[in-house]
Amino acid sequence: MKRIALFGALGLAVIGALTGGAVTPAAAQASAGDAVRGKSVYARCAACHDLNTGVTRLGPSLKGVIGRTSGTSPNFNYSQALKDKAVVWNADTLDQFLAGPAKYAPGNRMAFPPLANPQDRADLIAFLEQSAH
Ligand code: HEC
Repeated sequence: MKRIALFGALGLAVIGALTGGAVTPAAAQASAGDAVRGKSVYARCAACHDLNTGVTRLGPSLKGVIGRTSGTSPNFNYSQALKDKAVVWNADTLDQFLAGPAKYAPGNRMAFPPLANPQDRADLIAFLEQSAH
């Protein structure tokens, strides 16, 4: 009997971890990013974006992307749209871009749908701030 109760508690803890405790009434505003969770969100980017070595995949490397001006990683042939945007990538500009890549820089060539969940974006950006060096 004791064992069943223990598993029950574990189950609740797992559900809590999976939802990230993010099921708040005011869900519109993301809470502080969780880099650990952000790593799993980054799995959606990894096919096209290297993080640490500077290697070009389908997209430019994100090595050092925080603080870099859009369209300026060497060895990548950017669209004019991203070069003309000339925005410095930080938590705020990345959040806007990832919420709607096509809308943020019309004509850019990143074939990726909007990352609609604000918490996913916050977690991903926390991961990039920690890891894209
Ligand atoms: C299908 C491939 C693909 C996927 C998946 C993808 N991207 Fe991209 N990304 C690109 C391409 C291609 C560009 C360059 C677009 C251009 O030049 O217009 C780009 C550009 C960018 C830039 C601008 C970089 C710079 O140097 O200015 C950032 C930041 C970025 N992507 C982040 C992400 C993140 C974060 C994800 C995951 C949520 C992601 N991308 C998913 C292909 C992809």
